Amino acid sequence: MGRILSRQKPFIPVAEPLLDGKELEYVTDCLKSGWISSLGKYVHDFEQGFADYCGVRYGVATSNGTVAIHLLAATLNLGPGDEVIMPSLTYVATANGIKYTGATPVLVDSERQTWNIDPERVVEAITPKTKAIFAVHLYGYPADMDSLRAIADEYNLLLLEDAAEAHGACYKGQRVGALSDAAIFSFYGNKIITTGEGGIIVTNHKEWAERAFFLENQGRYPDNPYWHPEIAYNYRMTNIQAAIGLAQLERIEDMLDIRRRNAAHYNRRLADVPGLTLPPQADWAKNVYWMYSVIVEDEFGTERDELRVKLREAGIETRPFFYPVHILPMYNTGQSLPIAEDLGRRGINLPSGATLTPEQIDYICDTIINLRH
Ligand SMILES: Cc1ncc(COP(=O)(O)O)c(C=O)c1O
Repeated sequence: MGRILSRQKPFIPVAEPLLDGKELEYVTDCLKSGWISSLGKYVHDFEQGFADYCGVRYGVATSNGTVAIHLLAATLNLGPGDEVIMPSLTYVATANGIKYTGATPVLVDSERQTWNIDPERVVEAITPKTKAIFAVHLYGYPADMDSLRAIADEYNLLLLEDAAEAHGACYKGQRVGALSDAAIFSFYGNKIITTGEGGIIVTNHKEWAERAFFLENQGRYPDNPYWHPEIAYNYRMTNIQAAIGLAQLERIEDMLDIRRRNAAHYNRRLADVPGLTLPPQADWAKNVYWMYSVIVEDEFGTERDELRVKLREAGIETRPFFYPVHILPMYNTGQSLPIAEDLGRRGINLPSGATLTPEQIDYICDTIINLRH
C-alpha cells in the first residue's frame, strides 16, 4: 500500500498499520488453541497491559471505539435529559456514542491554537442538565485538562476523555487516559496501535469497570450466566483482536518514536512555508501526531481542497479535517462555532503512518512547496 508502486506512480497512504512484531505468533496461538471469541488470555492481558500503560487501574476492552463511548455513557447512567459538553471539532463517534443513550451532546467551539475544546466555551455551555465534560485529544494533541478539571470540580461534573487518537500523548508529563474520571481509546487499523477494530474504557473506578463489563456481556453475572436482569449489549473484544493488540502494545514506544521523528521531519521542512500553520506544540504537551496535520491559510495561495486534489494527482493521499459535528444534519441546530468551522475547512491530514519513510516525507514536502502560489 505505502510502497512506491512504480517509478512513475507513487502512492503514499495517510495511514498504514505496522504489524511486524509478535502479531502473527499471538494470532496463530489463538487459532491453534481454538480461543477465537472473547474468552481467552489475550483479552485480559491486553486490558491490563493497556490500563497499566496509561497509569490507570482498570481496562474494559470493546469491539470498537464507538461502542466504548456508548458503553461508558451507559455505565455512567447517562440518558434523556442529561447533557454532555464536548468539542464540535471531533469525529462524529464522540457525539453518537453519547446520543445512543438519549443524552444530548452539547457542542462547543475549539481553541485556534490547540484545535481542542476551549475551556471558556465549556463554562458558557453549562446548564443544570450538564452531567459531564467530554474532552477529545484531537489528532494526538492533549486538551487543556487542568482547566477542564477545575471547571468540572467547580460545577460538580464528570470529566471524561475521548483519547481515541492519542495513545501515549502526555499532558504535563501524565499520559492521557489517566487525566479524567474515565477515558476511551480506539484501536481501529489507522490508530497508533491497532487491534483491527477495537476499543477500550480505562478508569480507576472499580465499580464503573465492573458495571461496564456487566453491560458489555449482555448484562450477566459470571456466576449465573443466563440470568439477565437488564437489557444490555454484546460489545466484547475478541481474543484475536486482543492478541494483535498485545503485540502492538509491546511496540508502542517504537510506534510513538517513529511518529514523533516523522513529525519533526515535517516540521523542519514546512516551518518556513508561508501560509501553513503547523501542528500545536507547547512545553506541557507531548503530541503523538496520530495525524500530522496542517492548516492551509489564505496566504498559502492554493485552497485546501485544491491542494488535496493536486497532492492526490502526485500519489499522496490526504484527509480533510472532520466536519464539525454541529454542521452535520442530525446535530445541526443552526449554531455557529467559527473556529471549529474554519479549522474544519482549512485543515488537512498528511500521510502520518508508522511505515512512512524520510524520502516519502521529503517528496510530500517538496510537492506541497511547489503547489504554493
Ligand atoms: C475522536 C474519535 N472518537 C471515537 C472514535 C471511534 O472509534 P472507532 O472507529 O474504533 O469506532 C474515533 C475513531 O476514529 C475517533 O477518532
